[in-house]
Amino acid sequence: MTAVKITVIGCGYLGATHAACMAELGHEVLGVEIDDAKRTALAAGTVPMYEPGLEDLLAKHVATGRLRFTDSYAEAGAFADLHFVCVGTPQLASSLGADVSHVEAAVRSLAPHVARPAHVVGKSTVPVGTAARMAALLAELAPAGAGAELVWNPEFLREGFAVQDTLEPDRIVLGVPSPGAEQALRAFYAPMAEAGTPFVVTDYATAELVKVSANAFLATKISFINAVAEVCDAAGADVVALADAIGHDVRIGRRFLNAGVGFGGGCLPKDIRAFVHRAGELGVEDAMSFLRQVDDINQRQRARATEIVQGMLGGSVLGARIGVWGAAFKPDSDDVRDSPALSIAGQLHLGGAHVTVYDPKAAATAAARFPTLRYADSAVDAARDADVLLHLTEWPEFRSVDPADVGAVMTHRRLLDGRNLLDLPAWRAAGFEARGLGTR
Ligand code: UDX
Repeated sequence: MTAVKITVIGCGYLGATHAACMAELGHEVLGVEIDDAKRTALAAGTVPMYEPGLEDLLAKHVATGRLRFTDSYAEAGAFADLHFVCVGTPQLASSLGADVSHVEAAVRSLAPHVARPAHVVGKSTVPVGTAARMAALLAELAPAGAGAELVWNPEFLREGFAVQDTLEPDRIVLGVPSPGAEQALRAFYAPMAEAGTPFVVTDYATAELVKVSANAFLATKISFINAVAEVCDAAGADVVALADAIGHDVRIGRRFLNAGVGFGGGCLPKDIRAFVHRAGELGVEDAMSFLRQVDDINQRQRARATEIVQGMLGGSVLGARIGVWGAAFKPDSDDVRDSPALSIAGQLHLGGAHVTVYDPKAAATAAARFPTLRYADSAVDAARDADVLLHLTEWPEFRSVDPADVGAVMTHRRLLDGRNLLDLPAWRAAGFEARGLGTR
């Protein structure tokens, strides 16, 4: 493999991971980060979030010298001829659309420093049509003119598996304007091609849509099983056995069929809303209107969990003590963006309950956003004196807690397993009134 000099513009979740992983592949990487605190932390080999394996990899390549950081676009333009744009595209405050202003700012800042033929590669998740606009902007502003080409290369990494997903992706998608651009990216990703990773080479619009379609499909799968879980509850059926059974059909597949309190995080909720919004702008809103229901079903799981807790407490949560296991939107992450666990904890708190939360990694990020909740130092402590315990983020640690130890500290032995992963018969054997969502 030939080592290539690259820059990674925007060193948040996606960028820090891409930068560290590309250094691991042997490339020379310059990270461009304008936030002083973030850049200083990264240059010292630390990452500002919890992601298994990332900090070790980053520190390793800061030490090898293959990974450096700067805030200078001039330095970036001089350093490399392959630039990856990894900035965030959060939901707009004014609508359900995605804010692409950081992508545009990155291209505008870099372009004047692209004086030699180069490729600027967008990895951020964007509304379809953005890449074409960015290509025009780049051609207009870069001294290299038509020699500066834009490529769209969406990223599919999952939090908690970011390093693995980046080093061993399921596929590499390239939206390219020319055979030369395809060649440059194929050469760069040669180690993955050698490992058998499939490449899908297409146009900008398709590459952009692949990403949002993948996330919309995953969200739809989760909301589908959550809708079925509600029917299972009404009919006395068991959604876990049902998911196992339909999942055996390879056309369906068992993954992403875990019913519970639903999806959260910085991607799925935002991306489906932005997809509906963009479809509306393109005049095909009706085609994507089902995604509104996917979103509604997802939100309803949070209300449903709250109502079930109310029912377990005899109709009101006012004054009740509630223990909550989990704050992150998923395990192996300290990300609490749009977290179902904290949304439910917050609703119960607003209803007048005393809520105590425990999360193995996300307590600090949760406390920063939800300072009015109480935070415990252990799973058992969160349950102390509680009238009901909620399992809302599926950290493996919770599955190894002995129900007897929890029951011994609680005022009333009641459990709602909002992830359908605890051994309910064992909890019932320990004297608990225990239930899941759509399970028996
Ligand atoms: C997602 C996509 O999976 C990834 O490919 C994309 O690049 C970014 O968005 P991520 O946000 O890290 O990744 O989370 P993911 O693993 O997809 O889980 C999303 C949410 O769905 C979590 O809150 C999780 O608890 C929930 N979930 C997942 C379910 O409720 N049921 C399931 O069966 C699976």
